[in-house]
Amino acid sequence: MSEPPAACRLIELPKIPDARGNLSFIESGNHIPFEVRRTYWIYDVPGGQTRGGHAYRTLHEFFVALSGSFDVVVDSGRGEPEHVVLNRSYVGLHVPPLTWRHLENFSTNAVCLILASEHHADEDYLRDRDEFLALTGSPPR
Ligand code: TYD
Repeated sequence: MSEPPAACRLIELPKIPDARGNLSFIESGNHIPFEVRRTYWIYDVPGGQTRGGHAYRTLHEFFVALSGSFDVVVDSGRGEPEHVVLNRSYVGLHVPPLTWRHLENFSTNAVCLILASEHHADEDYLRDRDEFLALTGSPPR
């Protein structure tokens, strides 16, 4: 059987405190384990809405709450889903391929920055839960 996919990991980013305002940064390869080929962000989320609800075959993503807070619910298909609260602009979550995820519990004015390892490609999405569970070697549930 092939190696299990890498686990999701919280990564603390550099923070340069300054009386004029703090500064943080991300360097591909140094702070996150992939090269960034795309950046997008989610904002103006109405109360109670969720985003995501799928996995990717090959895509790595890194999530940061630039403002406000939200929960990233991640599921490798092999255990219970994990709820990760993001509410600091200097802490992000690496979500490797073959991880089912959704975002929920957005605060007012939350801004979610996502760095991605590839350009957008619809064929990389896994939207069918049973197909995802088959690929992750888990029994359908
Ligand atoms: P989708 O990935 O389904 O959003 P969510 O964050 O909720 O998972 O994307 C929603 C729509 O936006 C879909 O039509 C594809 C399009 N899209 C792009 O064109 N480029 C992108 O980089 C992303 C992330 C989405």
